[in-house]
Amino acid sequence: MPKQPQVIRTPEDMHALSAQLRAEGKSIALVPTMGALHAGHLSLIDYARAQADILVVSIFVNPLQFDRDADLDAYPRTWDADFALCVEHEVDAIYAPTVTAMYPDGFATKVIVSGLGQGLCGAHRPGHFDGVTTVVAKLFGAVMPNIAVFGQKDYQQLKIVQRMGADLDMDIKVVGRPTLREADGLAMSSRNVHLSPEEREQALCLRRALDKAGELAQAGERDVEKIKTAAAQVVEGASLARLEYLEVVDAENLAPLTRLEGPARMALAVWLGTTRLIDNDALNPH
Ligand code: PAJ
Repeated sequence: MPKQPQVIRTPEDMHALSAQLRAEGKSIALVPTMGALHAGHLSLIDYARAQADILVVSIFVNPLQFDRDADLDAYPRTWDADFALCVEHEVDAIYAPTVTAMYPDGFATKVIVSGLGQGLCGAHRPGHFDGVTTVVAKLFGAVMPNIAVFGQKDYQQLKIVQRMGADLDMDIKVVGRPTLREADGLAMSSRNVHLSPEEREQALCLRRALDKAGELAQAGERDVEKIKTAAAQVVEGASLARLEYLEVVDAENLAPLTRLEGPARMALAVWLGTTRLIDNDALNPH
């Protein structure tokens, strides 16, 4: 029988446990999540397990980063299943603070990373990344990890958190790991459960649009406008899909590109009914 993870509900208790572990010379890995754990999260957890003595998974549906109340209310909460998966994957501690423990009366601080958060998802979800950086700074402060593992599925989030960690001298290695996909190519996401069977079928347009762009780059196309137009046509071919944005950006500073010359990333957001899906992939000149 694997050991049950310890469940910690307040920043004070988390801080005390981590301080004790660090004093004992133990290294700590953190995987921040909002729960509803799926294979994508588990790939991060399994990677992180091998990186440190102690593995902490945080589960906190962070109200600060939701720009729509309906999205926050509908966000899946599956504590029992999440706990069982944490047991199975040898998590040492689950940090699952309450909203009031995280944001008590009088809470007044915001962590804002400028520049990187302006385009892509940031342009369509006002305040979202400020909510992410504020909560991640708090998680880092309470858990004091040596390493924190994030998914490339949320590529802009990863780059913003890396910037924050470097800028604020946090001394935490922020690692990005590849996107886990369903067998047919759909990126795993907690929001996929909201898709109807028809929407689920058409959700493949995201992966197909990325593939189309990859094919053109492989064939030598360097004109980003042409690549974007061809990829957007793939999404437009799906009758239930509504394209929110499709961009080709520099893989490091996320600035929009007109020519494909160095490492780039294509990213897109697509609505299927009331569900918003995002995906991205490397797009490199060949
Ligand atoms: P959440 O959406 O639960 O995702 C937690 C982590 O899992 C993120 O780093 C995300 O990029 C990663 N992830 C999600 N789907 C993945 C997939 N298919 N393959 C690989 N990794 C995947 O992202 C958040 O929560 C929040 O913004 C958080 C960072 C916890 C702050 O509240």
